[in-house]
Amino acid sequence: MTDLTATAAPCGCACDAVPEEELNARLDDVIREYRDKPGGLIPALQTAQALFGYLPEPVIRKIADGFGKPVSEVTGVVTFYSFFTLHPRGKFLVRVCLGTACYVRGGKEVLDAFKKKLGIDVGETTADRNFSLEVGRCFGACGMAPVVMVNETVYQRVKPARVGELVNQIAAGAGVAGEKETA
Ligand code: FES
Repeated sequence: MTDLTATAAPCGCACDAVPEEELNARLDDVIREYRDKPGGLIPALQTAQALFGYLPEPVIRKIADGFGKPVSEVTGVVTFYSFFTLHPRGKFLVRVCLGTACYVRGGKEVLDAFKKKLGIDVGETTADRNFSLEVGRCFGACGMAPVVMVNETVYQRVKPARVGELVNQIAAGAGVAGEKETA
């Protein structure tokens, strides 16, 4: 069973550490708030993910119980939407676009460069919990392909040869400020 005790902030510090009982009490409130609302499952899952940082199996089971739905159905919803995650994500979520425009302009090579630099595959998180790697289908910036998003920052026309430098900058705390950048 997943240990939910003293869940720490993604940054690794303990400033947001919350005891398991408190998290579970908050989860009970979330379930009570949404279980009778039409379409309430998605916001309940979103709020639960915000609380825990991801959706571990015990949380999914508890939500399924609360909503009177089979666990398989709730798991199906979680795995269908890319914004839900069953695993803890790193401080920086790197999403490489593999939509058509980005793919034909080298998105796959950009993805390979991130895999190599970070030493992880898609869906994984680095051991230091700094980076998670995922792929996207289109971020609505096709004219700037290939595109990568790191948290809320969009990087345009990313070149595979620059990925190592970009990762180093981000890890050093530079370059993720919410504005569009060209890497
Ligand atoms: S295909 Fe990548 S932003 Fe549209």
